[in-house]
Amino acid sequence: MHLLFPSDPFNKKSVDETYAIEYEALCSAGLRCSLFSTLDFDQGIFSPWPHLTADAKVLYRGWMLTPEEYGRLHKAISTSGGVPVTSPHQYRLCHYLPEWYPLLHDCTPETIFASRDADFEYIVAKHVWPAYFVKDYVKSLTTKRGSVASSADDVSEIVSLIEQFRGEVEGGVCIRKYEDLRPNTEERYFVLNGRAYGRGHNVPELVHEIARRIMSPFFSADVAMRTDGTPRLIELGDGQVSSLKSWPVEAFVSLIANSDE
Ligand SMILES: Nc1ncnc2c1ncn2[C@@H]1O[C@H](COP(=O)(O)OP(=O)(O)OP(=O)(O)O)[C@@H](O)[C@H]1O
Ligand SMILES: [Mg+2]
Repeated sequence: MHLLFPSDPFNKKSVDETYAIEYEALCSAGLRCSLFSTLDFDQGIFSPWPHLTADAKVLYRGWMLTPEEYGRLHKAISTSGGVPVTSPHQYRLCHYLPEWYPLLHDCTPETIFASRDADFEYIVAKHVWPAYFVKDYVKSLTTKRGSVASSADDVSEIVSLIEQFRGEVEGGVCIRKYEDLRPNTEERYFVLNGRAYGRGHNVPELVHEIARRIMSPFFSADVAMRTDGTPRLIELGDGQVSSLKSWPVEAFVSLIANSDE
């Protein structure tokens, strides 16, 4: 496996500081790692350093990309002789909630998908839920206001704030049924080549089931316990752009290193 990280914007031979710990740990474990400038990439230039070796299986680790951007990166890696581990279709499947939802609707809070300009009054009137959890296709509102709505006006407010803070609503709006979750029970799992991994302890059966249903080589699954004791999938993410959350870096490195054997 050949890892590809974003470089520091001002120094193409250093990793972006956000990924420094992970990059150093993977390099120290003997994994091949290259850097590329995202500023150059935005200008249509892709010149990884060190160069990708021919037929290297390339796994990106970096900032979230739109599916279109990932498609461009996939093409650039292929043109440079590498073989991207994840296809653009697989990236989109795990990155956008409406893509994975039909495959996992029984494991995750019920969700309605709407355009940015939809009639939220109508949607809320038709779905009388304890509360609504609002996000775009990728992320919730992570400011103090939070993403929980109790009315259509709240939904509109959250959507406007997502637009204000992040520049746009990515894809569209997801209005999810609010479920009571036990505090501090959310755990991130990674699935690599069909095998589910946790950061040390047991992997719940729900995650093995998700691994069987989702045909993508590398993704994350966040699972929390509902107050009635049912484990619930909160979100899926493409593994290349998922943060480690509370995973010790060593556990992540051994996950990647073992997949190479
Ligand atoms: N339907 C829901 N009902 C109740 N709580 C929810 C629901 N969906 C999400 N949450 C809570 O809100 C948190 C953030 O939601 P989610 O992970 O979907 O958004 P996010 O923007 O990806 O956030 P983060 O970057 O923190 O992972 C979850 O960790 C969970 O505690
Ligand atoms: Mg999340």
